[in-house]
Amino acid sequence: MSFTTIDRVGPRLNRSQLFVPGVRPQLFEKAAASDADVICLDLEDSVAPADKPKARANIIEGLKTVNFGTKSVSVRINGLDTAWCYRDVIDIVEQAGERLDLIMIPKVGVAADVYAIDMLISQAEMAVGRVKKMKLEVIIESVLGLNNIEAIAGSSKRLESLHFGSADYAASAGMRTTNIGGPNKDYVVLTDKSASGARDTHWSDLWHYVTVRMVAAARAHGLRPIDGPFGDYSDAEGFLAQARRSAVLGCEGKWAIHPSQVSLANDVFTPPAEEVAAAEAILKAMQEGTEKGMGAVSLNGKLIDLASIRQAEVIVGQMNMIRARTKA
Ligand code: COA
Ligand code: MG
Repeated sequence: MSFTTIDRVGPRLNRSQLFVPGVRPQLFEKAAASDADVICLDLEDSVAPADKPKARANIIEGLKTVNFGTKSVSVRINGLDTAWCYRDVIDIVEQAGERLDLIMIPKVGVAADVYAIDMLISQAEMAVGRVKKMKLEVIIESVLGLNNIEAIAGSSKRLESLHFGSADYAASAGMRTTNIGGPNKDYVVLTDKSASGARDTHWSDLWHYVTVRMVAAARAHGLRPIDGPFGDYSDAEGFLAQARRSAVLGCEGKWAIHPSQVSLANDVFTPPAEEVAAAEAILKAMQEGTEKGMGAVSLNGKLIDLASIRQAEVIVGQMNMIRARTKA
């Protein structure tokens, strides 16, 4: 292990993050009643320019009146290059009360973007004597953001997670695709001819590189990496395939842009029962070993080392949060 240790951010369930446009306050209660781990009330791209002040007022009202239970609640503010961003931060922090957990910053390009929002939040928090410290999540959705991802990941003590926004990223990179978070028929490998002359087409994952980089940057700073949207919400199979790919690569959750995607994301990002049982068995064996004064123990003929205990603790910790949420 390196002498540089990684401190993980505090635990938070983030298997599914349901987006709700700030202009549809009638959906706030429905979102609160859903099974989503995080509800993200949106002021950015699902709200037309003329509706920004109204959406902001709706969200402030919703944060004061809707019972979001044990869910985490986030507000996605407008980008730093807009006329709305500063007022989003000031009004939300000063007027929405203590319920809000997170502010999501879109289109982050450089670490100073996060610094600037951190400063505004800090001032507004002090001004109103807010007790709970607001946390931050940022979307990596531009080539600039990707180039500066290391610095962004280390930019603020408030930062908890990095999210990948495929649609804006594709636009920023000039990618020739319009499918939000899904595959593209032109991003394929055509195999050489077999003995019979046949050739196969293998679809590839055009989001692989960015996802891997985001996971590495996030994990190296103890943050949660979260996969972004899958636009075709009528395609559950497609959503599951994409979510499973990002779970394999290390993501901890995925956005839901329609309520039908919430349970799909929760399923994929809940550790499988056999994995949980194995992790619990490891911790139990280690506990028994420690009580007998043994530093290393064996389970089913295999040595359990400290790494497997750390892995097991992550899985059991995650599962305990899920059980607590399901009971609540
Ligand atoms: N949160 C909570 N409930 C929602 C919801 C959401 N985001 N979207 C839809 N619903 C509800 C509807 O009110 C409806 O409820 P009902 O059965 O009680 O009538 C039910 O879920 C089915 O909705 P449906 O008719 O299929 O969807 P819609 O046409 O009303 O809305 C979208 C579809 C995509 C416009 C809507 O889901 C949406 O705005 N999603 C979020 C988009 C967003 O914020 N994007 C920014 C991040 S990429
Ligand atoms: Mg975006």
